[in-house]
Amino acid sequence: MSTNFTKNAPTLGRRAFLRTASVAALAGGTATTSLLSDSHAQTTARTMARTGVKYDFDTPYNRVGSSCARWDGAAREYPEGVFKYGMGVASQDFECAPCITEALEERIKHHNWGYLSDRDGLIAEIVKWNGNRNQLDLDPKTITVSDGVYPGMIAAMRAFTPPGGKSLVITPAYSGFYTMAREANIGTVDSQMKRVNGRYEVDWADLEAKMTPDVRTLIVCNPQNPTGNVWRADELERMGELALAHNIIVIADEIHADIVRKGHKYTPFAALKNKAVVNNSLSFCAISKTFNMAGLKNAYYYSSNPALLGRVNQYHWPDVSTLGVVATEAAYKYGGEWFDQANAYMDDNHTFIENYVKANMPSVGYTRNEGTYMTFLDFSKVIAAIGPEELQATYNRSTPEENFQDWLVYKSGAYLNPGSMYGTGGAGHMRLNIASSRLVLKEVFDSIAMAVNKV
Ligand SMILES: Cc1ncc(COP(=O)(O)O)c(C=O)c1O
Repeated sequence: MSTNFTKNAPTLGRRAFLRTASVAALAGGTATTSLLSDSHAQTTARTMARTGVKYDFDTPYNRVGSSCARWDGAAREYPEGVFKYGMGVASQDFECAPCITEALEERIKHHNWGYLSDRDGLIAEIVKWNGNRNQLDLDPKTITVSDGVYPGMIAAMRAFTPPGGKSLVITPAYSGFYTMAREANIGTVDSQMKRVNGRYEVDWADLEAKMTPDVRTLIVCNPQNPTGNVWRADELERMGELALAHNIIVIADEIHADIVRKGHKYTPFAALKNKAVVNNSLSFCAISKTFNMAGLKNAYYYSSNPALLGRVNQYHWPDVSTLGVVATEAAYKYGGEWFDQANAYMDDNHTFIENYVKANMPSVGYTRNEGTYMTFLDFSKVIAAIGPEELQATYNRSTPEENFQDWLVYKSGAYLNPGSMYGTGGAGHMRLNIASSRLVLKEVFDSIAMAVNKV
């Protein structure tokens, strides 16, 4: 069977795209109506909270032609038309939670787009979500709303790092940390994890050795993108104690906090028992991965230490878009059930991929993810078998993994992210986004297996 997902998919015109993007998953669901906020009746949404609805993540949702980075951005890199599957950029292919579209539809009926007065309703929902889901008691006064994790973390890097200073990154890690550091005009130093019994583990001796006086911040990515670690409390505490001992401030990036697999538990850095460790940290969060709202530009950060928070706030301009606030508030308030189903579906996607790779792709290495909707596959045997020199001669990119990215698109149509983007330890690996219909994943993995098994 072919999902015929992109190859022959017509590029959607704007009108057709908007039509396809309308709420479709909910026929037959029971509904109760409530106002997002009575005090904002004119400017916020009348939104449906639903219970007992089964959402459909299996039917492929065509994003082609919507200017999305995951599909349209990648396709632009291959104008000759070999691109078929966008398995890179960290966004979900699912139709979003209906409460988000409804909240936005309601707000756009009010035809005025002047400045937003406050974010109090959103902050209240952030506090509730963290309290209910993560048993984290956040003081609303310690929360700064931002238009992305990037701007907050760049401000933190600037605030704490004098010229010549560095951030310490536990790798393989999200490529954006290097981009942020460049933007903040600071350096980075990597501490590469070790693979022990099939799990990525911190190399504690190396981490401490890298805590030299020029290192001013430690980035703790929890869950870790792309290796999928959901860090345990003891691991976080050990990172925090080492940082404290070396006078290094912890920047905890917890954007993937909600996407955690069965059997694992997300521990907010701010919930650690050692209060000295917590007071030496700031946490950068968003619900944008949870509900696929990255394009709506909304995030937040907080710290129990007013001095640290004040320093970051000095470097950060906390402006947000009205639509982002409306949508984010609705997602927090009404989207919990949608997300729980999406998360269970993504967990099953991870299991599907683990089984598929182990059964059908003997030359590809697999590491079990604990969280995030990424998987980090080891193609080093395939790259070695094709020959790095031949790949270089054919594709002439900067790293063997970038050359292999092209090779894979030409041979299978699947676009993955090269491991070399993720710092030391990414060699030979490719990151693949699993947040798609399983029908699409099956087609993608059949194509990749066909290509690599011929090598
Ligand atoms: C670990 C991590 N931090 C930050 C971001 C980007 O955050 P934002 O879009 O809110 O700036 C991403 C996006 O993939 C990410 O994986």
